[in-house]
Amino acid sequence: MDTSRKYIALVTGATGGLGTAICKRLSEDGFHVVANYNNEAKAQIWKTKMEAEGYHFDMYQADVSDFDAVGNMIEKVEASIGQIDVLVNNAGITKDGQFRKMTKENWDAVIKTNLYSVFNCTRHVINQMMERNYGRIINISSVNGQRGQFGQANYSAAKAGMHGFTKTLAMEVARKGITVNTISPGYIATDMVMAVPQEIRDKIVAEIPMGRLGGTEEIAHLVSFLASKETSFITGANYAINGGQHVY
Ligand code: CAA
Repeated sequence: MDTSRKYIALVTGATGGLGTAICKRLSEDGFHVVANYNNEAKAQIWKTKMEAEGYHFDMYQADVSDFDAVGNMIEKVEASIGQIDVLVNNAGITKDGQFRKMTKENWDAVIKTNLYSVFNCTRHVINQMMERNYGRIINISSVNGQRGQFGQANYSAAKAGMHGFTKTLAMEVARKGITVNTISPGYIATDMVMAVPQEIRDKIVAEIPMGRLGGTEEIAHLVSFLASKETSFITGANYAINGGQHVY
């Protein structure tokens, strides 16, 4: 590992609640942060807000569910900044609803954005990491991939799939200095969770032994840990961070 340069971290879905906290934390840790986004208008507002707070992120648009679009984005990042050392597969959406009523469109959208994206992004960076004998891949899954959730057959399937991917890739690249890990957050105070109707959300919070939603910075702290060079013997792991909501 060359410690004379800034390490480059690509965070997908950077403009969301978790993505924002992860970008800030990695930047504070000294990484050169590359922020991926999909929605141009939202990204411009986010960039202005981040700069007002003193953060500068290089921003790249790509729909992570599109293999070729991701390939083009990675090529541009490599040409203008450098090869990626840390990949945080964070982008994700929900399209909740009982399975018996779930449309194919809502199934496909969630599987493509939450799971295909992990293949698309990782596949475009893994060989460069292997050549350089260094890499950190961090997959942001969910408690609902570990335990299931009424109304989330699509989301739970994608999130459980992420950790299956983590376990196998961890084995395949372990000898190349690359670690691959999953983080499974519980209910965190993001727009995604706040979109759950209040009555249902209150019942969910009542099931959390800590009695509150998690903070985005609490997840970012764990990402920061796994992104560090010192965590070189941790791979294939799934870190639950859910306030005790799901213990197993
Ligand atoms: N267990 C058992 N039954 C349940 C239930 C549950 N948890 N939730 C709802 N039901 C039942 C109701 O009692 C009702 O039954 P009856 O018809 O017999 O009265 C029925 O389901 C209601 O079904 P509807 O389809 O009419 O309800 P809906 O469309 O209004 O809402 C839902 C269904 C969208 C799944 C809604 O319950 C919901 O939003 N649930 C929360 C889902 C959730 O936790 N999403 C997490 C989003 S955040 C995230 O994903 C981040 C992360 O990683 C944690």
